[in-house]
Amino acid sequence: MSSSQPIGVFDSGVGGLTVLSEIRRELPNEDLLYIADSGHAPYGDKPKDFIEARAIAITEFLIAQGAKAIVVACNTATGAAARVLRTRYPIPLVAMEPAVKPAVERTRSGVVGVLATRQTLASHNFAVLLQRVGQGADIQLQPCPGLVEHIESGDRDSDAIRTLLMRYLAPLMERGADTLVLGCTHYPYLTPLIKELAGDGVTVLDSGAAVARQVRRRLDEADLLAPAERNGQERFWTSGQPARIQPLIDQLWNAEIRVEKLPETMA
Ligand code: SIN
Repeated sequence: MSSSQPIGVFDSGVGGLTVLSEIRRELPNEDLLYIADSGHAPYGDKPKDFIEARAIAITEFLIAQGAKAIVVACNTATGAAARVLRTRYPIPLVAMEPAVKPAVERTRSGVVGVLATRQTLASHNFAVLLQRVGQGADIQLQPCPGLVEHIESGDRDSDAIRTLLMRYLAPLMERGADTLVLGCTHYPYLTPLIKELAGDGVTVLDSGAAVARQVRRRLDEADLLAPAERNGQERFWTSGQPARIQPLIDQLWNAEIRVEKLPETMA
């Protein structure tokens, strides 16, 4: 394994770009490979076995492209597949962890809301996280079906998404939540809208920057950080239609990148 090999990152769609941009900020010298599994998004209501099979196929593709480390930039895929990926692939693997710990430390009202997919909130990983760091606050779990679909279609501020989001935020606000954890990598795109709807007094936390720091630590420990004198490049693939996702990627990623189609064997 060589330090100049790329880092492989994947998500069900464009949500993982919120993590990828933090990785790019933290690690400007690294080459980054990104897969948006848009042909199968959203993962949130799919069976665990299906998501696990997708995560394995994508990880194998990324390793075949030379990935020296894998980042599961999707909370739902983390809950469904991080354990099996860790046992199968002996390379650094970093997965998502909703920011429940910092939320419990910061809340003043003692009420924390967690917004995520049903799969994430029902996962073993999430139960273990709550057990480990969720004591000492009233943690309210709010599944948010439909939000990922809006974001994947390029909608971050329509009347429809405002109504849906308000339906999810209202019970948390009524309960007195002053800290909201975004437990899905798509949701940081909604942070401005969430702050507008929930009010200025509410803190909104996601874990993209913490994951990027963890990627740096894991690469450093394995002596795999890219040489400092180079500028990292990116390469993107999708299992969906590149022409459909390209305008969205152009909007969300601030460099011109041509999205490639994953091979048919990966469809
Ligand atoms: C989804 O694909 O439904 C959500 C992805 C995530 O949980 O980050």
